Amino acid sequence: MPTNRTFTMIKPDAVSDGNSGSIIKMIEEAGFRIVALKKTKLTPERAGEFYAVHKERPFYNDLCQYMSSGAIVPMILEKENAVTDFRTLIGATNPANADEGTIRKLFAKSIEANAIHGSDSDENAEIEGNFFFAHIEQF
Ligand code: CMP
Repeated sequence: MPTNRTFTMIKPDAVSDGNSGSIIKMIEEAGFRIVALKKTKLTPERAGEFYAVHKERPFYNDLCQYMSSGAIVPMILEKENAVTDFRTLIGATNPANADEGTIRKLFAKSIEANAIHGSDSDENAEIEGNFFFAHIEQF
């Protein structure tokens, strides 16, 4: 059943470039409500756990190094059709293929340092949200 929630994190390249505020503004202007948000940093081991599904991929080790190289901003977001609409807002994984006006087109540097993550299903949105937020305060 659709939960109307998705999980995202602003990645180290975008945080260190000072683009978190601009990205959060785009997210809110697109109609997403922020349910939970924090600034944190992953160890390489925690990054490896988060991306365990990519363990066999050639880019896995680099990805874990990159994702633990600086601060990140994970968030849980709410909106009707959240998972699909959010993936439209961020654009293709490779910024070279991302549509004009998408977050990755505007802020991503490469297929790896691609500024932002977006869950690919309701099920993964819940798993990924729980990875970062043990308790969500209700406002
Ligand atoms: P994300 O949507 O967070 O999911 C997996 C991440 O792995 C992806 O964004 C990129 O940061 C990275 N990634 C995916 N494909 C490649 C690739 N071909 N080379 C390097 N990094 C990749």
